[in-house]
Amino acid sequence: MKEYRTDDIIVHWESEICSHSAICLKKLPQVFNLDARPWINVNAASAEEIIRLIDLCPSGALRYSLPEGSKVDPALAGGPGSMTIKYDGQPVITMKILRNGPILIDGPFTITNTDGNIINREGKTSLCRCGLSNNRPFCDGTHAKKDWKVD
Ligand code: SF4
Ligand code: FES
Repeated sequence: MKEYRTDDIIVHWESEICSHSAICLKKLPQVFNLDARPWINVNAASAEEIIRLIDLCPSGALRYSLPEGSKVDPALAGGPGSMTIKYDGQPVITMKILRNGPILIDGPFTITNTDGNIINREGKTSLCRCGLSNNRPFCDGTHAKKDWKVD
């Protein structure tokens, strides 16, 4: 996992589980730009704007945390993109099936892979539903490239 940081926010990036929804590229292009190096410019928007965007990332590939001394209101930084998301009481795990796309899971859960390896995840993850992903069980956006269709 890579990190990009300012005094107010740390952006964590786990490329392997990105489902290539392009939400980050479309909604905050001054920060997320595939033509730039590094592709994440964490100084190009406020920490609060970046937090709001990362809360929309469907795969959990983008997450955030607050460094010590951050001026960001911690109440703003407890959304689904938080590295330190806290569940009160019994965690609720939700699943959402996207038309022509992956299954979005939100909540702490474990996946036992076909080789018996256990993957622990917290927060959001996109699981492949089309079977075409090169990074199963995670969605890598291949469904869109192949124009896979299902209700
Ligand atoms: S899944 Fe997240 S990181 Fe990947 S393109 Fe979409 S918003 Fe960006
Ligand atoms: S559902 Fe996205 S690659 Fe399979």
